Amino acid sequence: MSTPNPQHARIRSLEGYHEAYHLSIHHPAEFWAAVAEPFTWRRKWDTVVDSDMAAGRNEWFAGARLNITENCLDRHLATRGNKLALIWEPNDPKERHLRLTYRELYQHVCQFANVLMNNGVEKGDRVCLYMPMIPELAIAVLACARIGAVHSVIFAGFSATAIADRVNDAQASLVITADGLNRGTKQIPVKRVVDEALETCPSVRKVVVVEHLGWPVQMDPERDVWYHEETDNAAKTCPAEEMKAEDPLFILYTSGSTGKPKGVVHSTAGYMVWADYTFRNVFQVEENDVYWCTADIGWVTGHSYLLYGPLLAGSTSLMFEGIPTYPDAGRFWEVIDKHSVSIFYTAPTAIRSLMAEPLDNVLSYSLDSLRVLGSVGEPINAEAWHWYNEHVGKGRCPIVDTWWQTETGGIMISALAGITPSVPARAGLPLPGVLPVLLNQDGSEIEGNDQEGYLAIKQSWPGMIRTTYGDHDRAVQTYFAPYPGYYFTGDGARRDENGLYRIIGRVDDVINVSGHRFGTAEIENAINENPNVVESAVVGFPHDVKGQGIYAYVICREGACRNEADMPRVEASIIETVVAEIGKIARPDKIQLVSGLPKTRSGKIMRRILRKVAEGETGNLGDTTTLLDPAVVDEIIRGAK
Ligand code: PRX
Repeated sequence: MSTPNPQHARIRSLEGYHEAYHLSIHHPAEFWAAVAEPFTWRRKWDTVVDSDMAAGRNEWFAGARLNITENCLDRHLATRGNKLALIWEPNDPKERHLRLTYRELYQHVCQFANVLMNNGVEKGDRVCLYMPMIPELAIAVLACARIGAVHSVIFAGFSATAIADRVNDAQASLVITADGLNRGTKQIPVKRVVDEALETCPSVRKVVVVEHLGWPVQMDPERDVWYHEETDNAAKTCPAEEMKAEDPLFILYTSGSTGKPKGVVHSTAGYMVWADYTFRNVFQVEENDVYWCTADIGWVTGHSYLLYGPLLAGSTSLMFEGIPTYPDAGRFWEVIDKHSVSIFYTAPTAIRSLMAEPLDNVLSYSLDSLRVLGSVGEPINAEAWHWYNEHVGKGRCPIVDTWWQTETGGIMISALAGITPSVPARAGLPLPGVLPVLLNQDGSEIEGNDQEGYLAIKQSWPGMIRTTYGDHDRAVQTYFAPYPGYYFTGDGARRDENGLYRIIGRVDDVINVSGHRFGTAEIENAINENPNVVESAVVGFPHDVKGQGIYAYVICREGACRNEADMPRVEASIIETVVAEIGKIARPDKIQLVSGLPKTRSGKIMRRILRKVAEGETGNLGDTTTLLDPAVVDEIIRGAK
């Protein structure tokens, strides 16, 4: 048997993949010690891995001391100080883009780390960021990590109420925001949204505001400071705080099947090794690549594959403020040509929205620089895969369809570009360190190929979720208790005849809208806040662009909706409530007012029926005899949108 060696840190052949995979599963400690070796450690680990999956306890590199920003920045200065770390492309192509070398980024991060400390942030404090996709966001995230503060980025599409929920759960002491945000033709006054949120957030003592649009904002003299004024006077060096391997690096809120989003906590060392290893191997990154991940830093993809992965690997990462369709549907391709992007990582929903536009939008660009394409966030349908392959990759760029989750920290199942098989509608083989299994409902493992079941992971991996913030039991109940000894993903999957995995979709009450995760209960809770509403049930339905759309069945209070003419007003008011409670991203696509919901005698809503109706499949609703009032189903079918 071979022993781990540096080649396992970077797989270069199919044979190398199989060898690395075998080692990682049978000798994880040796394997990951070899992978972790080249990082900058203040102190090396005592134990590589200590895991009790059934208890939801997983520790990696215990005893080690490090700071992740020394690995993202300081360690590159000697050899890559003048290499571009970040290219920032603004929303408006007529505005100037910005380039930061590793040395410049290092200085900005140090400066802002000093600002955070000057404003009272200490190691272990939580800092929330609600910001546009501007360089200051990347700098601020890294500055938090530099001083050992736990960052929690909140996607800047969430509402004031959603911000307040997250800030209060994290008990954040400082919030970073901007005067406003550009998104295509729209401009959004984010500081105002933060001001509204913070009315109910007593833990927040300071707010740092980036001047981005030059809009007038209300500054609370006791609480608010300007980013540029604070950084002007701050030193350009800042010693990195020494962190323990298992110290939390960040919290990222994500939706589950219960009503309240949970704060997924990632550790320092394990996350670092996983983000770097998966980034380099999946995309087969070379020194001169210009890499572009279109995800927002408000989601995990932006954390692992816009920021940490690329910077750990010493790559050049492109950050884009805008949207794929502004000023026209050729923007992605224009940016690729402009900056000679060689690796491009985006979401199926973006591809589908661009596919619907005239082909000239993509054919007018050369796209010669492209080498590797990636997809993330939801299953990529075969049609979108072929369009991406043919018109963007020109049939010469391997496509990696990367399956993973906020909780997994990094990519779990995916082709390694050009090395392991890349087949449409298949994520592919597991990465080294990932031991996927398919389970029956009773928790027994399904053996062999050409099989379908619940997707679970049998062995601890370095990047996995450590806990849910402030409530470890919730993490255990959600991920580790359903099938003891396994991490339960919430997804269903098929292992095809060649052992490649195809992700089918969620098997829990989570829907994936344009790659954004929502719990149906979360949306129902929001709808139920509307004064017209008695009860609601939300399901997903297939949507051409978004993957899944949101279909809401709503029972109104007596008198709230007396006739058909009342409906548009009531529906608009429900949408307004959801936008206020969660944000525009959770707007229901369809609302159907109903007089009752299909419930069993024990009061459980039969979502299966609602899903079928939403999908337009009313021919075969299955057994409805256990319903309390089967007549309600006929009414729902008649009123279906
Ligand atoms: O259902 C899977 C789907 O997105 C879920 C994870 O969502 P989130 O935590 O928001 O992370 C998104 C970015 C990693 C998964 O449970 N999903 C993600 N990637 C894929 C996918 N489904 C199929 N294929 C994928 N490549």
